[in-house]
Amino acid sequence: MCGIIGCAAKGLRVAPILHKGLKMLEYRGYDSAGIATVEDGVIHVKKDAGKIDEIHERMNLDDLPGSIGIAHTRWATHGAPSMVNAHPHLDCAGRVALVHNGVIENFLELKEELLDKRHVFKSRTDTEVIVHLIEEAMKSERNLLKAVMAAARRLRGSYALAVISADEPDKIVLARNESPLAIGIGDGMNFAASDVAAFIEHTRKVIFLDNGEVGYITPTEARVFKLETGMEVEKRIVELDWTPEMAMKSGYPHFMLKEIYEQPQSIREALKTQEKYLDLITEFLDRGKDVFLLAAGTSYNACVAASYMFSKLARLATTPVIASEFIENYGKSIGIDTVILAVSQSGETADVLAAIEHARLSAATILGLTNVVGSTLTRVSRAYILQNSGPEIGVAATKTFTAQLTVLAQLALRLARKRGKLAQYEIDELKDELEKLPELVEKTLKISDEPIKRLAKELKDAGSIFFLGRGISYATALEARLKVMELSYIPCIAYPAGESKHGPISVIEPGYPVFFIAPQDSTRKQIIGNIMEMKARGAKIYCVGTEGDEELEENSDWWLGLPKVNEVLSPVIYVIPFQLLAYYLAVERGYDPDKPRNLAKSVTVQ
Ligand code: F6R
Repeated sequence: MCGIIGCAAKGLRVAPILHKGLKMLEYRGYDSAGIATVEDGVIHVKKDAGKIDEIHERMNLDDLPGSIGIAHTRWATHGAPSMVNAHPHLDCAGRVALVHNGVIENFLELKEELLDKRHVFKSRTDTEVIVHLIEEAMKSERNLLKAVMAAARRLRGSYALAVISADEPDKIVLARNESPLAIGIGDGMNFAASDVAAFIEHTRKVIFLDNGEVGYITPTEARVFKLETGMEVEKRIVELDWTPEMAMKSGYPHFMLKEIYEQPQSIREALKTQEKYLDLITEFLDRGKDVFLLAAGTSYNACVAASYMFSKLARLATTPVIASEFIENYGKSIGIDTVILAVSQSGETADVLAAIEHARLSAATILGLTNVVGSTLTRVSRAYILQNSGPEIGVAATKTFTAQLTVLAQLALRLARKRGKLAQYEIDELKDELEKLPELVEKTLKISDEPIKRLAKELKDAGSIFFLGRGISYATALEARLKVMELSYIPCIAYPAGESKHGPISVIEPGYPVFFIAPQDSTRKQIIGNIMEMKARGAKIYCVGTEGDEELEENSDWWLGLPKVNEVLSPVIYVIPFQLLAYYLAVERGYDPDKPRNLAKSVTVQ
């Protein structure tokens, strides 16, 4: 994720304003930060790795001259957190400075082209190509705005940009595609930021930029244009009544709800995973004799889903393992032919690190999937892949789960292609479905929110809840159980639906709430039988299935129909109502969904 801010003021030093704004954006990223200002035809920069307060203590971020400036707080996606990789980035001549939030997909090809033109790169980021593209464009374009437009037209991926030039020291040029960017209209000072929280202390008048728009601010002016046509756009100024606290949550009452709603975007980012990393991991997975998918908590549930994906698509048998059980269970049976894909949002979970350390000493190959560049997992893995979700503030994993699934599905698909296990049309269909996921998640959020909010009122005093699914939906049942239990503190049970008759069914008594996760997939026929078993014992049946599945709807006491989706991708869609249920149950029961009791975001003890 990352947060950017720019401020153009009249006769006022902006560095302290930018520094304060950065603090409000820190929830978007906190591995490095920096500020650039312009004064007397010179760009001044301070940046470093670390948290904003640490950097400020080392180099006093307020102590920069100039009344125009840009700033950035980073959540690394390309290039580890370090001083050179921190933003702002400068062109070769040091005349243009830029901050960026997003992921540039085609940066490698652009970098090659720019290297051929003798541009000198200092960082390992995707961002730096943009500032060199602008420098290149300045050779033919008349001004900074035109040069930024020319550069933006070359970019594939997501970006919110703020750019300053020593040659046009009165303005900040902006551009947006898929990453948020808002302009704040103040009195003698204008702002631009990823989030209004950064400037709400100064103004509540806001213009929200849309995708494909560029523009600029000066201390007294704000103009917006269409990137494609260059035509000026009349933008509406919105007057917000948010507090700074509400602004950080984009108006949502809790970070968790905000993060649930961020999923269309975080899945889009997860789909931008660099091909070369996918290929590298695929190569290692293909070579393994025994392949373990190792994780804890929600990440383990993602691994359970992934084991179905790898098996169904690539015909690769993998073993999902709970990290804290790995050494006892498999410690003695691993060796040079073992491949371990460790999945950890934080990359710091002690159980995961202990298990992979053990495996590493037995010569196993360690691969990683994580959300945090520079985390221990990235340092001990032979190869790793990033899910690009940005920081997750809510303790319960939501957007990072669906992003993990999205990356794991891409890996399974790639492995299937490498092994020749799917026909070309099947690969193409799945690729299309993957691309459609953000849209499907958006639809699912719309369909689910109101009915789930009402349902939470009905279930708020439940003594226990049962979750059942067959096939890959078993993973969804596991995650539904974890979310509901950890946030509402209602004891919950999850089982493969076919296994419930071998014991757990004995807990059922009249009115007991039993959820079935039942998309129209290869397990659909058998699930009816499992529903009947539960119904016969008086359970109240709550079913989440595919829209239009009348038979299931008729056999349920409560029904939610979701859009049709490919079987292996179904957990991404089907988990959404349960994330919402967990959230609304916590709220109904008077608990803080962002900070469930006894839990920490990253568990660094074994
Ligand atoms: C549940 C949750 C935890 C984490 C688990 C692993 O909502 O967030 O169960 O999934 O502690 O964390 P990572 O993925 O950071 O290793």
